[in-house]
Amino acid sequence: MTNKIVMAEVRMNREIAPGVYHLQMLVEKETAAAARPGQFLNVYPEAGSRLILPRPFGICSADPDAGTLEIVYEVVGRGTEILSAAGEGTLLKIAAPLGRGFDTESLKSLRTNDARPPVLIGGGVGCGPMLFLARTLQREQVPVTAVLGFRDRPFLIREFREAGCTLLTASETEQEGIFSGNVIDCMTAAGLSAPAYFACGPRGMLAAVDAYVSADCGDEFLQVSLEERMGCGYGVCVGCSTRIREYGENGQPQTVRRKICTDGPVFRGNEVIWDDGTR
Ligand SMILES: Cc1cc2nc3c(=O)[nH]c(=O)nc-3n(C[C@H](O)[C@H](O)[C@H](O)COP(=O)(O)OP(=O)(O)OC[C@H]3O[C@@H](n4cnc5c(N)ncnc54)[C@H](O)[C@@H]3O)c2cc1C
Ligand code: FES
Repeated sequence: MTNKIVMAEVRMNREIAPGVYHLQMLVEKETAAAARPGQFLNVYPEAGSRLILPRPFGICSADPDAGTLEIVYEVVGRGTEILSAAGEGTLLKIAAPLGRGFDTESLKSLRTNDARPPVLIGGGVGCGPMLFLARTLQREQVPVTAVLGFRDRPFLIREFREAGCTLLTASETEQEGIFSGNVIDCMTAAGLSAPAYFACGPRGMLAAVDAYVSADCGDEFLQVSLEERMGCGYGVCVGCSTRIREYGENGQPQTVRRKICTDGPVFRGNEVIWDDGTR
């Protein structure tokens, strides 16, 4: 467990869709080099803001050469509103990288038997962490299909194209040239089938993706990033504890409590108890 707080300097903080911001920050090169897709960072509130808890955000890009980390976030309350006003040169107190990210090693054994590309599914600001994964897989020369779902105007499309993805984009508001509906409607219409799936987005979307993947290849081949409420973000307060289904050596499932911030935020689809009352 580590919570080394470091200073990050805002390089860019740009509104890329109504209420959605893309923030790039300068950090020490070792911090950027340590980040893996699916991990998150905590932004600590500035002194005098009357906020106590840090705000967690999935890392959407990490460049060790430039020493940069990026996040994409939506303004939903006071913390993100303050963050949206942080101009170039603002110093932020952050802890990064945190949590357990996506397991991409397992793709190697899957790919020897199956040439179909893995599918990455992002919903809204959940597209951010999927972009980091897409860029990482591009470097490893793994072809990828990305399905991106939006309530309204899409964003990060150019970045996903540059990451070499075959792209399916859906919006729940009618948009020219984009599938009208949600990601499940879009995947169903495309008849999408894959040996492995990765997803990040609202819990309702993740549960629907789990049902889709269960019917396709089994939800043990789905990895989801859960973005539940958190406290400390590094394993101390137990505020993010949730019930998880684990499988013992005999293959029998048992229910255990796990911390989303340190045991996750990434879990396998078959580990998540979708109907546990969490929205
Ligand atoms: C591991 C992790 C990764 C995340 N990654 C991202 C990301 O990449 N981009 C992004 O925009 N957001 C992300 N979030 C959610 C983000 O942390 C919250 O939106 C943020 O903390 C809200 O702070 P606030 O002070 O603006 O809002 P608050 O005043 O704290 O809350 C405002 C409203 O947002 C709701 N809310 C707050 N946090 C969450 C949450 N975690 N999930 C659902 N609803 C919430 C509250 O219930 C309330 O209705 C992530 C959360 C976690 C746990
Ligand atoms: S947020 Fe404090 S233990 Fe997970």
